[in-house]
Amino acid sequence: MSAKKAILVSGNLPAAVLDFLREDFHVVAHAEDRPIPRRRLLRLLADKAGLLSMITDRVDEELFEQAPRLSVVANMAVGYNNIDVTGATRRGILVCNTPGVLTETTADLAFSLVLATARRIVEGDRMVRSGRFKFWAPFHFLGREVTGKTLGIVGMGRIGQAVARRARGFDMPVLYHSRSRCRRSLERKLGATFLPLPSLLREADFVTLHVPLSEETTHLIAREELALMKPTAFLINTSRGPVVDEQALLDALREGVIAGAGLDVYEREPAVTAGLEKIDRVVLLPHVGSATLETRTRMAWMAAENLRMGLRGERPPHLVNPQLMKKRKKDA
Ligand code: GLV
Repeated sequence: MSAKKAILVSGNLPAAVLDFLREDFHVVAHAEDRPIPRRRLLRLLADKAGLLSMITDRVDEELFEQAPRLSVVANMAVGYNNIDVTGATRRGILVCNTPGVLTETTADLAFSLVLATARRIVEGDRMVRSGRFKFWAPFHFLGREVTGKTLGIVGMGRIGQAVARRARGFDMPVLYHSRSRCRRSLERKLGATFLPLPSLLREADFVTLHVPLSEETTHLIAREELALMKPTAFLINTSRGPVVDEQALLDALREGVIAGAGLDVYEREPAVTAGLEKIDRVVLLPHVGSATLETRTRMAWMAAENLRMGLRGERPPHLVNPQLMKKRKKDA
């Protein structure tokens, strides 16, 4: 029998997933909740054929150089902006992600930020806990209505569509903007109207972002875009931090250009632009879009299966650079 290939699992995953991988591979696991330190990651990869990576791992040219045997990187996330896919493809390294299994969970979180910002849920909790709930009054601690308000969805992929489905339950007209327009039948099903981004920003009461991070989407929402939004509107970001110019957002919130924001992701994560934490109309979460036990378990299994299949020479179910499989077939 041939020797087992060696792999590195860079995050703290359930024992059952590691046991499954141990059936085929020699597994080294970073069994801690803090991200694996960069130097340790590079050192451990020296003899590894596979990496089950986290979004906190930068998989770049430097890493590829330190990992001459690496042939599969399975990211435990749907987003893979932490990976230099072009560089990986050039080196023949398969890159995989975990789409689908986190769609509803992430949409739930985006929608909970819509509700939390508009109805001042977190601020109210802080008020009660700190003993400042002293009276009830008819025009005290008012939020904004959600039902019937207009929702603007930027990025109409799986998660954007799942958010649109939730909006129907709140009788919200849905506007959307996407790189490519959806089929008319899907638009009808979702009750969603396509608009250019500036028009969407002008009309929506809530703008929620669901685009992948790329050069094109970096600072998609910056000063100029925020200035188009209504002073009563809220911005929700559960996609990737750099999609929003965070300093511009802070300024817009301070100056009353928009009413509030719900953020799960940050431009320089885990750092948060100083000043945001002082604004009550902002809800700040620690990147937990897909963080439920059920979903993270599904993601871990999916990443493990992607890695296993890739290292066995089979096509992984969720491959980001499928052109490599075609090339492998042609070369075989
Ligand atoms: C999480 O942020 C993901 O991309 O899955």
